[in-house]
Amino acid sequence: MITEILKPRKENLIKAAKTITNGGIVCFPTETVYGLGGSAYDSKAVSNIFIAKGRPNDNPLIVHIGDKKDVKSVAAEIPKKAAILIDKFWPAPLTMILPKNKSIVSEVTGGLDTVGVRMPAHEIACEFFKLCKVPVVGPSANTSTRPSPTSAEHVYADMNGKIPFIIDGGNCLIGIESTVIDMTQEIPVIYRPGFITPEDLEPLIGDTVYCSKISDGRVASPGMKYRHYAPLCDMILAPANELAAVAEERRKKGLNVVVLAKRGVVSSSPSFQIYDMGADNISYASNLYKAFRECEKKYDLIIAQSVEEEGVGRALMNRLKKAAAVI
Ligand code: TXA
Ligand code: MG
Repeated sequence: MITEILKPRKENLIKAAKTITNGGIVCFPTETVYGLGGSAYDSKAVSNIFIAKGRPNDNPLIVHIGDKKDVKSVAAEIPKKAAILIDKFWPAPLTMILPKNKSIVSEVTGGLDTVGVRMPAHEIACEFFKLCKVPVVGPSANTSTRPSPTSAEHVYADMNGKIPFIIDGGNCLIGIESTVIDMTQEIPVIYRPGFITPEDLEPLIGDTVYCSKISDGRVASPGMKYRHYAPLCDMILAPANELAAVAEERRKKGLNVVVLAKRGVVSSSPSFQIYDMGADNISYASNLYKAFRECEKKYDLIIAQSVEEEGVGRALMNRLKKAAAVI
């Protein structure tokens, strides 16, 4: 199959939407990362997505909508606190786990009776979903375990030959996946930290808890048990003040080293390269997967700056630790 990269013009969106309606799969941009889309009503399309990604079948897919009112076609029920978040946040990088509507095929959720749903803050994506006229499943459009794609080129690298179209929306602004929060629990549970933080959510819905662990052999969110986001070369983390020393030491062992650091944190050295991650955690996150994909080809080892686990730093550290296989 030849994979075509489409400019996001109306006639192209219509063409891509028809592919979805007819049971095919297509990649679309969002504000977080690119998604691999198919109809949430079509078991065959859903299983083709698992195959294209090489994703285990028990790791559920989230469902995307282009209009808030369509949440009713994905969820059987909207708990009160979820309704508040939909009203205040969507469209947003916020995925809510809700009771599943029967119309969503069971392959989407790996048999769970809950479903993740989100309306992205991305005009092209929402226009595309409306044209599809069905809820659109959309895991990140990377091969399983690889860094999520934040440009059409990244998607092409992983999906060339497997899908007919990639809708090119340019670079994803946020660059890391949405916050995932389970709204079926009395106290909502955050399974995946993201750009929308507990500090944003709690003034509206009260306490939330963060669940990063597999407890009692049970996995609250199946995605937690799999390795994620990893570059092909080795990767370790170090705090700002240790980056240069760690890089020097690894260089002495003969490794070709790159340091991913926020601007101005490390002075340049003949022993290692520096990849500028921007001035703050927001730009660090938005450059993260691009940096992984560029650096894995050129270096033996990535040494990435660790950051404080607060605000967006929590989401950033979650991705960094998983990529470095620390958790
Ligand atoms: O930003 C995003 O969320 C992107 C873009 C394309 O929208 N999508 C994305 O999807 O990251 P995916 O499939 O790569 O990650 C969804 C995560 C997985 O870790 C999965 O285990 C979890 O959400 N999840 C999905 N449905 C769930 C459910 N019913 N209960 C618990 N966890 C669920
Ligand atoms: Mg993913």
